[in-house]
Amino acid sequence: MISSLQARDRYTRRHCERVAKLSLDLAVIYELSHEACQEIYLAGIVHDIGKMGIPDSLLLKEAALTDAEYKTVQKHPEIGYRILERLGHLQFVLPGVLYHHERWDGKGYPHGIAGQTIPIMARIMAVADAYDAMTSCRPYRQTMPVEKAQQIVVAGGGEQWDPDVVECFSVWLGRRRATKKNSPDSSLIPNHSVVEQIAKAAKVVSR
Ligand SMILES: [Fe+2]
Repeated sequence: MISSLQARDRYTRRHCERVAKLSLDLAVIYELSHEACQEIYLAGIVHDIGKMGIPDSLLLKEAALTDAEYKTVQKHPEIGYRILERLGHLQFVLPGVLYHHERWDGKGYPHGIAGQTIPIMARIMAVADAYDAMTSCRPYRQTMPVEKAQQIVVAGGGEQWDPDVVECFSVWLGRRRATKKNSPDSSLIPNHSVVEQIAKAAKVVSR
């Protein structure tokens, strides 16, 4: 299943890996438990798995999406949830998969939940997902300058994103500028391929 996601398109695969790594970094700064940090990394890897159910004609479209097309793309969190909920061993990723497009102010999707009602896993992934989407090259737009994306995230705390998570993002930015590199806490990233990571996590969770 993960291989299918990875074969989907190169952007989706790389995007999922970057979201997983940044989510892990933010979770460490937020001081989530060691286990929760590993879970959020794996949830990041599979967070867009529902895009397997969205046609390429929409995901790779160069022109702006129509309202109807955008509504179709917005179904991917629920499609992903339905794919993964059947796999009992992967229940821990479900909050991130279903709610990573919710907003702190309640204007997100699919359920429009707000504030701390949104699980912390999803609040962290929402920041990582948005930042990576803004700084990545997509068929329909140019890459946004990194500084501008950083300003948008910092300005969106308390509105689009959890202000505490945005605070963690600012800490992450400060450290990144200081070290001039973006290296996640590699001791927390499970080794081996993504497929092995998920299988291993599933075994741990099922014990
Ligand atoms: Fe998504």
